[in-house]
Amino acid sequence: MMTPHSIILGIETSCDDTGVALYSGARGLIAHALHSQAKMHAEYGGVVPELASRDHIRHLTPMIHQLLAQENIQRPDAIAYTSGPGLMGALLIGAMLGRSLAYAWQCPAVGVHHLEGHLLAPLLEAEAPDFPFLALLVSGGHTQLIAVQCVGQYALLGESLDDAAGEAFDKAAKLLGLGYPGGPAIELCAQQGRAHQYQFPRPMTDRPGLDFSFSGLKTFCLNTWQAAVRQNQHSQQVRADIAYAFQEAVIDTLSIKCKRGLQQTGLSRLVVVGGVSANKMLRQKFASVFSQQNIAVFYPRHEFCTDNGAMIAYAGYRRLLAGQRDDLVVQVRARWPLIELRAAT
Ligand code: KG4
Ligand code: ZN
Repeated sequence: MMTPHSIILGIETSCDDTGVALYSGARGLIAHALHSQAKMHAEYGGVVPELASRDHIRHLTPMIHQLLAQENIQRPDAIAYTSGPGLMGALLIGAMLGRSLAYAWQCPAVGVHHLEGHLLAPLLEAEAPDFPFLALLVSGGHTQLIAVQCVGQYALLGESLDDAAGEAFDKAAKLLGLGYPGGPAIELCAQQGRAHQYQFPRPMTDRPGLDFSFSGLKTFCLNTWQAAVRQNQHSQQVRADIAYAFQEAVIDTLSIKCKRGLQQTGLSRLVVVGGVSANKMLRQKFASVFSQQNIAVFYPRHEFCTDNGAMIAYAGYRRLLAGQRDDLVVQVRARWPLIELRAAT
């Protein structure tokens, strides 16, 4: 029997972060731990799926042991694991272990949609948004505008037709010779950048609609950098100026589409989630744009913008409390549209 006092173990292994967390409705987030594989993949300039799976295997069991031991918890009352979308092999590690532990401990288990985890992450905060709200989900794999009525009731209003915003950051960082993951690298480099040195386009803002396109900005970045190289002007300052202009263009485009989405839906709350929502320039820009319009903007805390176990424990809690359970068949999906989910009532 699930109650708000039940303790949920959350497991996240969909990509290159191993995340675990313990959550209960009564106590809130009890503890969480994260192991990032970023350093391991940096050598290859991106995530190597097979290496990701192997690293999840190495770290996941000891991390769960450690988390339970440090909190003096013998066993959780239920287990939630990410069951998609993501890398197939990586997903299977978390799902197999989560499902097997639930079987051994005779407790319920539920597979969680990774993007629902991101969407609900701000609800872990003291200042949590009420439903309904408009959500901008900006991660490495997705850029979507979603009208959120309640847990599980999602209407997709717009999405990227090519690269996700995070992916554009990663690709731009790579071609500028900055590190991986690209978002934090661009952000750091852009701190030395000067405004108004380059004028990047704001893709798809000159026509109606809520879809995005970021692959052109990456190409614009490449052309600008190559022109600088040809003219022998590829200094650190120029690199920083380009990073600044690129970052500003992505953020400006996101804010224009959010404004449009809010107008279209009449919603007055905006929730920004996913890796790119950690970006400081984004938060500054959104604060200045949306405070003028009386729109309250909500974010997860910095460490829960990118992948983590806490958001999976929380989304799992909401699903389990609504009576959702998975049987003994371990199912994961590399691709899984968010709108296929049903409301957790
Ligand atoms: O949500 P996330 O951890 O993983 C996915 O579900 O995809 O997002 C990772 C993405 C990467 O593309 C990374 O470059 C981007 O989020 N990112 C950032 C920042 N931190 C992470 N982008 C811009 N600024 C940041 N500070
Ligand atoms: Zn994610």
